[in-house]
Amino acid sequence: MRPINVFVKLGGSFITDKAVTDSLKGSRITAAARMLSKAVALAARRGRPIRLVLGHGAGSYGHILAKKYAAVQGVHPKHGWEGLFRIRESMTRMNLEFVRHCNRGGLFPVTVSPFAIARAKDGSLSGIETGCIESLLERGQVALLHGDVVLDSERGFTIASTEALLKALSRHVRFDRIVMVSDTDGVLDSAGATIPRLRHADLGRLGRVVGGSAAPDVTGGMRGKVAELLAILARGGGQARIMRCDGRAENLLNAVLGEGGGGTLIQAEQVRFNAVPCAPRHEVSGRHRPAKRGGRTS
Ligand SMILES: Nc1ncnc2c1ncn2[C@@H]1O[C@H](COP(=O)(O)OP(=O)(O)OP(=O)(O)O)[C@@H](O)[C@H]1O
Ligand SMILES: [Mg+2]
Repeated sequence: MRPINVFVKLGGSFITDKAVTDSLKGSRITAAARMLSKAVALAARRGRPIRLVLGHGAGSYGHILAKKYAAVQGVHPKHGWEGLFRIRESMTRMNLEFVRHCNRGGLFPVTVSPFAIARAKDGSLSGIETGCIESLLERGQVALLHGDVVLDSERGFTIASTEALLKALSRHVRFDRIVMVSDTDGVLDSAGATIPRLRHADLGRLGRVVGGSAAPDVTGGMRGKVAELLAILARGGGQARIMRCDGRAENLLNAVLGEGGGGTLIQAEQVRFNAVPCAPRHEVSGRHRPAKRGGRTS
């Protein structure tokens, strides 16, 4: 039986106070890590091993600086390349703290720096080198990504969200489950109630309800997240869940095992491609290479 590929993002909104610079909520990371470790162990005991890619958002580290240096636009007319340095420094620091909190929860993810493996063209990811991530997964290790600044052939540099990196990665690794932990109980409707299921067709109706972030966020907030997830699911099927962790993150355990978890379940309209579990290791272009109908995604 092939392993189940799972991607989990602990959103910056969940692990930081996005309004307060460098405010990491370590105990939330540790609780989530404990449940992720438990999920991986349980799945292995049940004979259906999980291969886990973990991601964390930039929260009040990257986003505040990205806004200050208008880093999505790249080299700044006044600050030049300073934004690249500042955001890399900030995300590297955040990532080290994140890993330490994971360790306390018994999880030992290995960071694969997005800056080193991804690049962009005019603000969109154009390529990602996934060999290191795939090698870690094959060896039963947890690969860790995070929102980052990446080099851009037109702009000098730009911002890559965890969701955009996931979209690029999912051209190589088909994820059976995607779990996005945020600071709301999923995608909320205009009355503040959680929308249990969401498909592409619902977006028209929800256009104005699903918005950006209330906090500093340069990658589209909830609207950006939902759009990237729908694009990923349309290519390869599978399902994604946007949720908030409960105190001990037990609902995260359920979500990773495919046993519910609450929040909003996002499903593709239809499965258009028979994506393979793991594509051959080579570099591909992201949005600039249209996938073929009925074929592999890369
Ligand atoms: N319909 C909606 N339902 C839920 N959240 C919404 C909705 N519309 C807008 N939002 C905003 O989106 C935010 C979540 O997106 P945001 O990008 O800030 O989180 P994140 O992805 O966890 O953070 P990061 O980008 O740092 O990883 C919520 O805190 C809320 O302010
Ligand atoms: Mg976000």
